[in-house]
Amino acid sequence: MIKKAIILAGGKGTRMSPLTKAVNKQLLPIYDKPLIFYPLSILMLSKIKDILIIVNKGQLNQYKKILPNGDNLGIKITYKEQNHPKGLPDAFLIGEKFINNQNVALILGDNFFYGQNLSSKLLECTKLKKGAKVILHKVIKPELYGVAKVNKTGTIKLLKEKPKKFISDLAITGLYFFDKKVVEYAKKLKPSKRKELEITDLLNIYCKKKQLKSDILGRGGAWLDTGSIEDFYKTSAFVSAIENRQGFKIACLEEISLNNRWITKKQILKSIEFYGKCEYSNYLRKFI
Ligand code: G1P
Repeated sequence: MIKKAIILAGGKGTRMSPLTKAVNKQLLPIYDKPLIFYPLSILMLSKIKDILIIVNKGQLNQYKKILPNGDNLGIKITYKEQNHPKGLPDAFLIGEKFINNQNVALILGDNFFYGQNLSSKLLECTKLKKGAKVILHKVIKPELYGVAKVNKTGTIKLLKEKPKKFISDLAITGLYFFDKKVVEYAKKLKPSKRKELEITDLLNIYCKKKQLKSDILGRGGAWLDTGSIEDFYKTSAFVSAIENRQGFKIACLEEISLNNRWITKKQILKSIEFYGKCEYSNYLRKFI
């Protein structure tokens, strides 16, 4: 079982400067909420309540203003600062104490997932006991991502980071489930040519042991990137289109929490007070 997760929200967001000069990328809006709400909602839909958010040095106070300690959501949020971005597996070195020799999930702070059956897929993934599991999604430009080749049972046979030569069009999304060995393996990694620890190298350790499983988020689901300003607007447009058509919000944290029975309607009132008069509060008011 996986009961803990890390959101990696470090990184300088240089591709989105000047927007990211003063504000962390994960606090910028995707339509009507900060980007960080979306990966956090994915963990909450996975019924994970113990969450470590890794942020850039000096940006802790910004985060605490919007996501203090998780009390309002019935979860536990703790923070750690990262001095320099050293690659994704650094999350397991920074988070060693938090992980405390247990299985753990990792989600990248800028990843957006949406789709019918997503929750049941996520719950299935958290059942992981041994090895590791990743979520794959078909993309047109696999050369931009970590890419995997799988066999019929979903075991990954081969994976490569941003392959120049085509091996598969299944991208490895930024949501990973690991057994407790992950810290030990992360410690063994050496920096790559771009002087970072690579998640693909970490996954390869599991792959070589035939312990790397996958699940595919099919065409009925969406995995969107929020790496560049253009992606930000595209993802915002997606959220806006769905929300304004259905009247349901994507990644409304209080709604997920209430559905999980982690908070009461009374706590939602407090959230409404916290957010103030706004459309998000109006949405929350509908539940109580
Ligand atoms: C990272 C990983 C890559 C993965 C991607 C998902 O890429 O290295 O394997 O497919 O996240 O968002 P980066 O964002 O560092 O280019």
